[in-house]
Amino acid sequence: MTPSPRVALVTGAGRGIGRAVAKRLAEAGDQVAVNDLDGDVAAAVAGAITAAGGTAFPVAADVSDEDAVERMLDEVRGALGDPDVLVNNAGFTQHCRLVDLSTADFDRMIGVHLRGTFLCSRGVLGPMLARGSGVIVNVASQLGQIGGPDLTHYAAAKAGVIGMTKSLAREVSADGVRVNAVAPGPVDTEMLLARSDAWRAAKAAELPLGRLGRPEEVAAAVVFLCSDDASLFVGQTLGPNAGDVML
Ligand SMILES: NC(=O)c1ccc[n+]([C@@H]2O[C@H](COP(=O)([O-])OP(=O)(O)OC[C@H]3O[C@@H](n4cnc5c(N)ncnc54)[C@H](O)[C@@H]3O)[C@@H](O)[C@H]2O)c1
Repeated sequence: MTPSPRVALVTGAGRGIGRAVAKRLAEAGDQVAVNDLDGDVAAAVAGAITAAGGTAFPVAADVSDEDAVERMLDEVRGALGDPDVLVNNAGFTQHCRLVDLSTADFDRMIGVHLRGTFLCSRGVLGPMLARGSGVIVNVASQLGQIGGPDLTHYAAAKAGVIGMTKSLAREVSADGVRVNAVAPGPVDTEMLLARSDAWRAAKAAELPLGRLGRPEEVAAAVVFLCSDDASLFVGQTLGPNAGDVML
């Protein structure tokens, strides 16, 4: 059991899925550290949570930057305490054929999703292990399970996140820290604006559910995995994906 109220750190929470997760965790009573690369959007989300009666603390940092992550964790500890919950959500997408992909773009993709998940997880784990409780939820993607053309670096990073989730879960579950992931399908956020309207409409039509997901629907799965109701979920990857992938 994790203490209550918990301290929850959500990365990339300035908009989209991360914002929805931060709001839901705050509604459930958690004190939420709202991280984003963009400090203004982090502050706006934290302000909205506070205005609604919750407790939130904005913290700007690039999750792929080791020094920035350490500074972020120091700030969060100073403001709220050691995180009991970490949601590794920060991410971005980029469409490019592998043959045209620069090494810098490959490294950035792996850096934000995989190195960022590693850095933030390592940063919160020490106190969690010492306390014997904690929860980490990683936001992967169904593309990490099935791949996607022009997204080899993204899919590789997300497959890595799923592998890291399973391995870390095997490492730390007996010490009271639960680690799981979600692998969303297409969700209607600014990330999908990189796709054309025609692509989005065609994708929605081909999904068994007949529509794209909403950030709140992914957040519901994340919040469940963060909760004590998910006590038996260890190293799992839930699929809020409108039926696009059925495993
Ligand atoms: N939208 C989808 O269809 C979809 C599907 C599957 C998985 N995902 C994953 O869900 C997560 C959230 O995606 P979203 O759709 O909400 O995207 P989004 O673009 O709406 O929001 C992502 C947020 O992350 C922040 N961010 C980006 N890089 C960062 C960094 N280095 N450090 C800190 N913050 C950073 C951005 O500033 C932004 O506020 C991502 O990991 C994404 O890969 C999204």
